[in-house]
Amino acid sequence: MSAIELEDVTKRYGSFNAVDDLSLQVKEGELLCVLGPSGCGKSTTMRMIGGLERPTEGGVHIAGQEVTQQPPYERDCSIVFQDWALFPHKTILENVAFGLKMDGIDKTERKERARETLEMVQLDGFEDQKPKELSGGQQQRVALARSLIIEPHVLLLDEPLSNLDKRLKEEMQIELKEIHKELDQTMVHVTHDQSEAFTLADRIGIMNNGELVQVGAPPDVYNNPENQFVEEFLGDTNFLEGKVVETTSDGVVAETDLGCHVDIPVKNRKAAPSRGESVSISLRPENMRIRQSKIHNIKADGGDSRCAVGGQVDNVIYRGSMTRLYINTGSRKIFIEQQYDPDNEIEEQQDVVIQWDPERLVAFDGEETQFTAFEK
Ligand SMILES: Nc1ncnc2c1ncn2[C@@H]1O[C@H](COP(=O)(O)OP(=O)(O)O)[C@@H](O)[C@H]1O
Ligand SMILES: [Mg+2]
Repeated sequence: MSAIELEDVTKRYGSFNAVDDLSLQVKEGELLCVLGPSGCGKSTTMRMIGGLERPTEGGVHIAGQEVTQQPPYERDCSIVFQDWALFPHKTILENVAFGLKMDGIDKTERKERARETLEMVQLDGFEDQKPKELSGGQQQRVALARSLIIEPHVLLLDEPLSNLDKRLKEEMQIELKEIHKELDQTMVHVTHDQSEAFTLADRIGIMNNGELVQVGAPPDVYNNPENQFVEEFLGDTNFLEGKVVETTSDGVVAETDLGCHVDIPVKNRKAAPSRGESVSISLRPENMRIRQSKIHNIKADGGDSRCAVGGQVDNVIYRGSMTRLYINTGSRKIFIEQQYDPDNEIEEQQDVVIQWDPERLVAFDGEETQFTAFEK
């Protein structure tokens, strides 16, 4: 049995599909991140799970029970919102104990459990203060404690960390992960920040335009993206535009805007595009290496090996432990990232050869569907 099951759920506002025929199962005890750009339907999906919106079509189940038409208070779940929505005039203890009061739990037990929950989020000692006396990060913890105290079957978190600065955000990500581990709490966490999703998630569900595009463990979605949107959304990359010019025994060869032919291995032969079809190839900056070259002629050095190309370094950008290099291959620019190495400094204007492992590239057909590593 799934903790949450969404079955062909659609939410329409007028003729606009904010969520479009979305099906998803969240496992018991799982931390699932819903990731997607602003406006793609993440909050609407959460609100339908929590009962704040009714789907136009489809069904919502929590812990095996259909709850599609039930109001929020009859559902075994709790939502932490982006703005935390604390009661400004109540103390921290009263804020946290509020849900128990609604459940008719007596005062002594309420206070004791609120104290325990505050300890879990490392806020013991703040019981008598008011929300505005606390920092953003502390208020965020109060909101979390207020949801955790009612021991919901499912905890929904809608961008709860997006108002925090970078360092605090990372601290809270680790803490959320710890709490999840400690409680085995089923959590659905919404974010538009891919690094947050990678830090937290057991599985990531990627949304675009109201649709759930792909669901999988972080390395699966990163290394085997369903389509070009997923590849682009999960991290910076170089997209080469090309056209298939040859079919080989283990894939295809494309002529590309990099100024050279590129080998594209294809695991599932049936998915391979035919000669003349256009393709788009993603070369992630971390999947390329460079070696220094003494030959200035780009075509002569690397141009024919189909997994290397010559170029000249335009810009070197130091980013702490990593260096990003912008390289001009003569027909276009490409960027790569490598560990900073003081013994092997690359300089601007230097001639280099860029190499990559063909097995690490992913490519997309004219419909933007991935065809290199796809298993069907
Ligand atoms: N009550 C509403 N009425 C009309 N349009 C809405 C309403 N709520 C959300 N939308 C629209 O639905 C889309 C998805 O919104 P939302 O789920 O809030 O996106 P996200 O949380 O991913 O940023 C947006 O284009 C938004 O403008
Ligand atoms: Mg939202």
